[in-house]
This record gives sequence, C-alpha cells and structure tokens, in this order.
Amino acid sequence: MTTNSKRKSTTTDQIVDRMADQFDKHTIYQRAVQSPDADAELLQYFYRLSRNKTAYHFREDFCGTAITLAHWVQQGPEFSGEGFDIDSDTIKWGQKYNFDPLGKDGKRGILHIADARDPSTKSPDVRCAFNFSYWIFTQRQQMLEYFRSAYEDLAEDGVFVLDFHGGAESISEEEAITDCGDFSSVWHQTGFSPVTHLANLALHFRFPDGSSMENAFRYHWRIWSIPEITDLLNEVGFTTINIYWYDGEGDYEFTRVGHNDPTWIACLTALK
Ligand SMILES: C[S@@+](CC[C@H](N)C(=O)[O-])C[C@H]1O[C@@H](n2cnc3c(N)ncnc32)[C@H](O)[C@@H]1O
Repeated sequence: MTTNSKRKSTTTDQIVDRMADQFDKHTIYQRAVQSPDADAELLQYFYRLSRNKTAYHFREDFCGTAITLAHWVQQGPEFSGEGFDIDSDTIKWGQKYNFDPLGKDGKRGILHIADARDPSTKSPDVRCAFNFSYWIFTQRQQMLEYFRSAYEDLAEDGVFVLDFHGGAESISEEEAITDCGDFSSVWHQTGFSPVTHLANLALHFRFPDGSSMENAFRYHWRIWSIPEITDLLNEVGFTTINIYWYDGEGDYEFTRVGHNDPTWIACLTALK
C-alpha cells in the first residue's frame, strides 16, 4: 500500500511507473528490516548455549508476516512453531507468501490472529519478541501481563529471548537512513518524552526515482531499559537472565556491563 499517487507524468506526458508502486510494503519491510535466516540461527544458538540441546518448537510474538518462523520450520520435519499477531491482513499476507509456497513444511507453522499474551497450542522451547516489538506495551502492567503469560506458557526448559536497542542516539529525532540497495529505509522517531519515554516512530521507504512510501509503518512505543525489563521478568518468576551484546559484525557476546556506545543492540535470554 502506498500513500502517493500511483503514476506520474513525464515532461513528454508519457506515463511511467514509479518505483514505489512496484513494491508491496510487506515485501519491502522484510527486505529492509528482517534477517530471518540469521535470526532463526541466533535463537537456536541462544537455546543451545542455555540448555545444551536443540530447540524444536518456536513461538514468534508480534510476528507480522512471520518470516522468521517460516525459516525456522524449514530446518527439518521435527521443527515447528506458532506466530502471534493481532493484525489479520498482515497474518494473511504472511500465510500466503511465506508459508503456502513451502507446501508440507509450511504446515508446521501455525499463525494465530491473536494477542501476544494469548496461550500457545504447544509450549514453545524458544520464544521471541524481536525488533523491539514488545515495546508497544507502554504500561508496566501490560508488560507484566505479557511476561507472566510468557512465563506460564514456556516449556519448563524453554528460553525467552528479547532484543533491545539503546544509547544516546536511540532517543534522537534525526532520520536514520539505511541504504538497502535499490531503495533506502528511513526510521524517523518523533515526540520522545524524557518523562514518559514514549515516542512515535515512522518507517518510510524511498526510491532513487524520487518516489516513496511515506509512513509505510507507524508505531507508538516506550523506550524501555534493560534493568526495567529485567526487574519485570524477575517479578513474574524468571530466575536466570543473561545479556548478550551485539559486536556489530554478526556476533553476540555475554556481558554483565555492556558498552556505553552512542547506539547499541543487545539480546536478553530469560530462563525459568
Ligand atoms: C514492528 S512489527 C514486528 C514485525 C516483526 N516481528 C519484526 O521483527 O520485524 C510489530 C507487530 O506487532 C503487532 N502487534 C501490535 N500489538 C500486538 C499485540 N498486542 N499482540 C500481538 N501482536 C501485536 C502489529 O500488528 C505488528 O505486526
């Protein structure tokens, strides 16, 4: 879906296709934001590190088009999972383009049009909320409810994985532009309040011909800190919480202190 008109006229009155109209917003989101192979591998890495065995049943919260789950089930016939998202159009798109083409393999991924606090069909070995999507719970009580349901739902030897970003630049209102090859993705955060830590976030996609998908995705979220989230996870019963710091080159290293970089990414694992 795009916000701009479908076509533009050239000076010779010839109608030409705008690049922005040649893409669908979910396809382009997946290309710009997600790394499903690396994420599926990372989840398995955290599980093996924590439990010294392989995870088979995966739950992807706030899954959107559930592309990470689609990659997970392709690890083999014993790998299965569930995705949860409240947006029915996005889930239907994911089913059609990410699961149906996989045939039999795709049937091992079940998509639920449901709240991330709802129970799974089968307790997951590994469960994640990636791309900071759990930050849409802006109230402490909502986040507690989410973590309590995750705790109760997780397999006894399961691992719950969350990601974080932070540093001084995480509250900046500058546009953050990433070159994605044939287009650029632009994250624009506005209205950050130092009192509430609430902010609005828009994701735009811009193309070399000057066309764009402005506000392709919009979110309202709270920028949570690692200690706030750790306290809530402990409160609902998680006993072992570890932090892994992204080194910028594809690896995560265990840390107790982190690094005070202007922008950083980390993952948290929580065990019962
Ligand atoms: C930022 S997208 C995340 C997509 C994908 N997980 C990723 O890593 O890029 C956030 C998703 O959360 C979904 N969402 C918002 N509130 C939710 C809730 N309470 N329960 C489940 N999904 C929710 C939205 O519909 C949207 O698809």
